Amino acid sequence: MFDINILIKQIPEIAYSLEEAALNIYAKDRTEFYSPHAQIILFPKSTAEVQQIVQLANKYQLSIVPSGGRTGLSGGAVAKNGEMVVSLEKMNKILSFNDIDQTLKVQAGVITEELQNFAKDKSLFYPVDFAARGSSQIGGNIATNAGGIKVIRYGLTRNWVKGITLVTGTGEILDTNNDLTKNATGYDLRHLIIGSEGTLGIITEATIQLTKAPEHIHVLLLAINEIKDALYILSIFQSQITLSAFEFFSHKALQYVIQESDMALPFKEKSDYYVLLEFENVYNQTLDSIESIISNLYENKVILNDLIGTDQKENQHIWTYRENISESIARYTPYKNDISVLTSNIPDFIDEAKQLLAYQYPDFEVLWYGHIADGNIHINILKPDNYTVTAFKTKCEQVSELLFTLIKKYRGSISAEHGVGLLKRKYLSYSKSELEISLMKGIKKVFDPNGIMNPEKLLP
Ligand code: MLT
Ligand code: ZN
Repeated sequence: MFDINILIKQIPEIAYSLEEAALNIYAKDRTEFYSPHAQIILFPKSTAEVQQIVQLANKYQLSIVPSGGRTGLSGGAVAKNGEMVVSLEKMNKILSFNDIDQTLKVQAGVITEELQNFAKDKSLFYPVDFAARGSSQIGGNIATNAGGIKVIRYGLTRNWVKGITLVTGTGEILDTNNDLTKNATGYDLRHLIIGSEGTLGIITEATIQLTKAPEHIHVLLLAINEIKDALYILSIFQSQITLSAFEFFSHKALQYVIQESDMALPFKEKSDYYVLLEFENVYNQTLDSIESIISNLYENKVILNDLIGTDQKENQHIWTYRENISESIARYTPYKNDISVLTSNIPDFIDEAKQLLAYQYPDFEVLWYGHIADGNIHINILKPDNYTVTAFKTKCEQVSELLFTLIKKYRGSISAEHGVGLLKRKYLSYSKSELEISLMKGIKKVFDPNGIMNPEKLLP
């Protein structure tokens, strides 16, 4: 075992912790199923300090797990084999704002919500948004190409990154794209880094594009009994108005939110599913179209109930039904599936997946929710009390193989937005071809020839 004091002595200015409590906290993200085991937690304050760490890691053949807000759900930030964890949390400065380009240059440890609030103070908007906004960091968002609840209108994190500074696995500092909008000079390494899950290097800074803030936002909740109706509703609304969110969740999932909070159910009558829509009331005209669509949906017996938010407080209240699901079920050790297929394939896929899961999990509770307009469904299996965590994970993994075979048939993805990390690594071939995986491994070798960056993550 390497004596970590040899490394500490060479970087006396870099903060670190060897305390067991810190080691346990920083070696984990929100993924269940893994025991944390890190050797040291390092807290660099600059790209130069990160570079020093990576150079020493190469010299002594030590592995590194980059760590952001630790809100990940696939084990991408878990250290379980005595790795060094490099936390970006002290690199939390907004470095500059350019009002002409409408961009922000930030250190990787800036919290997503702080970035959103900074944009708001400048009367601008950072549109990538999700429930973990208060703890996740922009570096982690980039490393996983975070999606969330506004993808239908604004796209993924990838769409908002103008430039990245990366300390590569060899300890070199790579600046990509010069923050340009147009740059037709060959391979865009920035996009290779986005979604690379810390396997190519450590993202230390980024330039983020902001945009015009939306106005007169309304949120609408509709009660339905069939998932396929959600797609029908989506097509009706999309043909007339621009939606900024379209989510769905099951009544079973909602019940956990109600159980864990003091909120009442949105409607007196029970329905099996709900869809949540968000839109801007452009020129105060959109609401008129919405009302006429809603009355048609009632006439055609597609919806059973509706609730519309008229101000920010009411909108937020409606969002809570959807956004609090993940947190409300966390204590049931959920086995999380985060899959996607083409949105048009959702009805057929869900029919087949439901049959499969009902047969395979007769005794397990299966919760359905997600970003259905993106074709992204979160299927969460809750651990029954009488199962050990290990037995539960083993059973879920057996079913994953069947579910992912179905995903492959639909040419879908085994991970739409949570990333592959440790949890989905052995299933990568269900979504990527042999050739793709071998090219990915080749790229990894170029950036990180000694294999020190986030070992065992992403690539099988
Ligand atoms: C969500 O959509 O709520 C997040 O991706 C978290 C989760 O899937 O649990
Ligand atoms: Zn999600």
